[in-house]
Amino acid sequence: MSGECGATVVEFRNVSKRFGAVSAVRELSFAIERGALVTLLGPSGCGKTTTLRLIAGLEHADSGTIRIGGRDVTGLSATERDVSMVFQSYALFPHMTVGENVAYGLVVGGEPRERVRAKVGEVLAMVGLEGFEARLPSELSGGQQQRVAVARALVLEPQVLLFDEPLSNLDAKLRRRVRDEIRELQQRLGLTTVYVTHDQGEALAVSDRIIVMKNAAIAQEGTPRELYERPADLFVADFIGDANLVAAEIRRLEGEFAVVDVGGLELALPHRGFGAGPASVAIRPEALQLSTAAADGAHIRGSVSKAAYLGSHMEYSVESPLGSLFVVDRSVARPIRAGTAVSIRLAGHGVTLVRR
Ligand SMILES: Nc1ncnc2c1ncn2[C@@H]1O[C@H](COP(=O)(O)OP(=O)(O)O)[C@@H](O)[C@H]1O
Ligand SMILES: [Mg+2]
Repeated sequence: MSGECGATVVEFRNVSKRFGAVSAVRELSFAIERGALVTLLGPSGCGKTTTLRLIAGLEHADSGTIRIGGRDVTGLSATERDVSMVFQSYALFPHMTVGENVAYGLVVGGEPRERVRAKVGEVLAMVGLEGFEARLPSELSGGQQQRVAVARALVLEPQVLLFDEPLSNLDAKLRRRVRDEIRELQQRLGLTTVYVTHDQGEALAVSDRIIVMKNAAIAQEGTPRELYERPADLFVADFIGDANLVAAEIRRLEGEFAVVDVGGLELALPHRGFGAGPASVAIRPEALQLSTAAADGAHIRGSVSKAAYLGSHMEYSVESPLGSLFVVDRSVARPIRAGTAVSIRLAGHGVTLVRR
């Protein structure tokens, strides 16, 4: 678990995996740095679990190269790789105590009894379960079971820790807490971690970097902020943060900026390599600002078709010349009723040119 910072721990080069006619992973290339938590994010069936199992050695690549800690492991079995997986269902042995569950991998590996006991105690302390050795999994909360599963993986001192949708068995309230616990532990111990989820909010919250997958390939890779603020295409813009996609026209380029006509409004947006002509713009729901005052040249006219109160914010559907827009508004004190005519302004932040 130690080593210099910034070194690549996991590397995929053009890795492909098929199941019969299905291409589960296609020509995948990426690198994961030591101490980072990298999330594989994407809709169901896009190849996240297969990618994780390829790292673990539970699946084998049809082509391409996989390196872990600089070593080519493409042809090696799971036991010959220095990785541990925390499964979706935790896969704890129900008839074994917490201590026995955590010790299992070491005992199977033939470690001496005294050393096993010391290591189990150490790892349980790391995850905040000191003194829980004698309990059965059924005597623990969901969050505690999750931590036992993490302890069981950590005790093997893997170079890489793998999580497949670790929160899916928890209720909504516990999800945030366990999520934060995993991230805190990962950062505190500097664990190189690959984390799989289909939940964009979860991915934004825990990740150093996110690899967004679509149809067995990488759609975009970057930090949470890069993906949210500079999505490469419509798919990423929509998958992360529910963007509104509208047609626009790039009038001309001015230095770093493109002067863009969006529904009659002229905006200066970073050009991102696009040239003059028809274009697409992704607009975040919070970048659309509604007002019941009369529209002027700086506004687009619209009409609220739906209004929903969600406690912390309002959600509106607004019909406009740009199409139907999804709007999130933090001001809940004076909600706008469905049927009201509104003028719409675009904030400077949260409007981006994207590939279609
Ligand atoms: N063992 C398998 N046999 C056949 N098809 C599989 C197998 N595992 C995964 N697949 C298929 O590969 C694709 C990717 O699956 P998976 O990696 O599990 O996606 P995700 O985890 O993103 O939901 C899906 O179409 C899935 O049905
Ligand atoms: Mg999966």
